Amino acid sequence: MAFLADSLARVKPSATIAVTTKAAELKAAGKDVIGLGAGEPDFDTPDSIKDAAKRAIDEGKTKYTPVDGILALKQAICDKFKRENSLTYTPAQVSVGTGGKQILYNAFMATLNPGDEVIIPAPYWVSYPDMVLLAGGEPVAVEAAIESAFKITPAQLEAAITPKTKWFIFNSPSNPTGAGYTRDELKALTEVLMRHPHVWVMTDDMYEHLAYAPFVFCTPAEVEPGLYDRTLTCNGVSKAYAMTGWRIGYAAGPAALIKAMGKIQSQSTSNPCSVSQYAALAALTGPQDFLAERLAHFRRRRDLVVGMLNAAEGLECPLPEGAFYVYPSIKGLVGKTAPSGKLIATDEDFASELLEVEGVAVVHGAAFGASPAFRVSYATSDEALTEACTRIQRFCASLV
Ligand SMILES: Cc1ncc(COP(=O)(O)O)c(C=O)c1O
Repeated sequence: MAFLADSLARVKPSATIAVTTKAAELKAAGKDVIGLGAGEPDFDTPDSIKDAAKRAIDEGKTKYTPVDGILALKQAICDKFKRENSLTYTPAQVSVGTGGKQILYNAFMATLNPGDEVIIPAPYWVSYPDMVLLAGGEPVAVEAAIESAFKITPAQLEAAITPKTKWFIFNSPSNPTGAGYTRDELKALTEVLMRHPHVWVMTDDMYEHLAYAPFVFCTPAEVEPGLYDRTLTCNGVSKAYAMTGWRIGYAAGPAALIKAMGKIQSQSTSNPCSVSQYAALAALTGPQDFLAERLAHFRRRRDLVVGMLNAAEGLECPLPEGAFYVYPSIKGLVGKTAPSGKLIATDEDFASELLEVEGVAVVHGAAFGASPAFRVSYATSDEALTEACTRIQRFCASLV
């Protein structure tokens, strides 16, 4: 449509949201569908957080707040960074936005000039390249191959850096693979970055609390304090506290960058929802014991899904260190034909035929920049996962 902006032609809609929507439509039409597409915990927001939100409403905390967050929440975020990541920030170095998504978007909008490059390990979270494109930058994908456990090497990072590189995006544990970099692996990447002072680090630590022992979460500015002045450490309450709908994300970094991000937010959405900010404050300052309980559930589900998918003909499913995703390769199935006569030439063919035949919704790997594979979100019940994996096994076995 000629009326629409040219920039829109550069981006595509979120594939994960598309699959979730399609699965919901099929379900509503009466089809027996198991959705493994959505990237959100199936657990409810803890009661202590809900209660804090109800109190905020009753106390009239329903008006505009400072654009990038109330001071009490910013202070709680500083305390969290100190407590959990040994990072020292002041409230002036903290920005709160409408979800982790807005925080990342603000950061790109505030920093990218046309032609600026952003290094993104692939497979990547679907929104990174499109956000970069919307902000006028150039995404540069670096392959994190299954053979290297979905992690990039220092040599790959070094080779991808050019004079135009502005940001390196780091996401560990990762969406969509669940891969997590050990401290030594991250240290080796930060050594490369120390040699290139013009490159900034945007670390998306959204899955910090979904890390399975013996894997231990770590973040770039903590591992290499020399990067502190050019690192934006992003996080949020969506995944850890089962608060996806409340829309609160945050970041900490150099005050000048934080101020610039606030400027973008002040002319777009203004403050994130006031009630949600008080809920997030309760999340960060309240009891944390449920995190370990929920992690144990996710770990059991991870092991269940990895076991069942590796038992499926033609699938190879690495064991992830974190998050609630697995990313099995379908290399062994490409070129086969489904009973319907449909050729499985791509992972998109695989995902659409699987949905059609067995009613299991997964997201095809091309959406994450790495094929042929698909992503399973195991943030659902053991029963649903067992049934879904049984159907996937049956589907794989039916391909000839
Ligand atoms: C890696 C990653 N970063 C950021 C986000 C965005 O989180 P939020 O829901 O807080 O916007 C997600 C959500 O799926 C994610 O997977």
